[in-house]
Amino acid sequence: MDERISQTVALDDRVVVVTGGGGAIGGAVCRLFAESGANVVVADILVDRVDEVVAAVEESGRRAVGLVADLTSRDGIGELVTSVDRSFGRVDVLVNAVGEHLSTAGAFQDSHEGDWQALYESNLLHVFRACHAFVPGMIERGWGRIVNFSSVEGIRAAPALAVYAAFKRGVDGFTKSLAVDLARHSVLVNAIAVDKTRSYQVDHYELPEPYASLTGNWIPVGRYGEPEDIARIVLFLGSGLNTWITGQTVIADGGTLSAGGWYRTPERWTNQPLLVQYFEPLEENQNRPPMLR
Ligand SMILES: NC(=O)c1ccc[n+]([C@@H]2O[C@H](COP(=O)([O-])OP(=O)(O)OC[C@H]3O[C@@H](n4cnc5c(N)ncnc54)[C@H](O)[C@@H]3O)[C@@H](O)[C@H]2O)c1
Repeated sequence: MDERISQTVALDDRVVVVTGGGGAIGGAVCRLFAESGANVVVADILVDRVDEVVAAVEESGRRAVGLVADLTSRDGIGELVTSVDRSFGRVDVLVNAVGEHLSTAGAFQDSHEGDWQALYESNLLHVFRACHAFVPGMIERGWGRIVNFSSVEGIRAAPALAVYAAFKRGVDGFTKSLAVDLARHSVLVNAIAVDKTRSYQVDHYELPEPYASLTGNWIPVGRYGEPEDIARIVLFLGSGLNTWITGQTVIADGGTLSAGGWYRTPERWTNQPLLVQYFEPLEENQNRPPMLR
């Protein structure tokens, strides 16, 4: 990293806690913060993932503490607090990356209260609990950064996932108000609304041809997001580089939300998705009506 930038990032010996730190995005965040000089607490429910990320952090010469716990439970967050108290004694940057739709897709009228509760615990309640546990220390030290994870699906619609989408939007609302409350303590709170980024829980990215080469039809940047794309945004929001942005949800989606209902074909854009293949430069498509050429 450029020396002037690394001085501004100023993460040396800062302590970063990442919930879901064994995940695709959480793991990339742990590695990037470690490379930038931070010590890291990697907290996740899956031991193999925790071990892998802890090893990567240690390889970069920083201290890592792994915690295997169910962070959607009160006890899990309690274990995280104990682990932090015993290891580093403080948290400077809190990244809340646990969150899933938990395969609950389906008609809302067929869903059950148990589904809603599980979605609440995975996507919103654990964010409340983790912030509640670590904000007092940040206020006391007069510096802190919190990065929460929402989703573009909390902003646009998520068909068959109304309750998940509602809790992701809840993350944005909580982030905004907490940010305003904490701003004068130099504790900055932001969220990232992700879309189309390779991860463990979203596994449909390896498509056969011709589908793989059509990715650019619906993701303006022309590719899926990598966890490192998101980690760099977290590094900005969660470090000394960011001194002025708080209460915002940064949309990190390769342009999908801005494109809305527009799709790019090799030859042009269309807002009629059923015509996407009609715009492929194929022999059989050459006789399109004049307005569609
Ligand atoms: N990848 C995307 O395109 C995308 C889209 C929208 C939102 N998001 C959000 O980004 C965040 C990061 O997800 P990701 O994409 O890296 O997914 P991921 O599946 O790769 O990582 C999530 C991690 O959270 C851990 N986890 C799940 N439940 C847990 C629990 N109860 N206690 C402790 N750990 C638990 C999992 O073991 C996993 O390692 C999530 O909040 C997700 O909702 C991602």
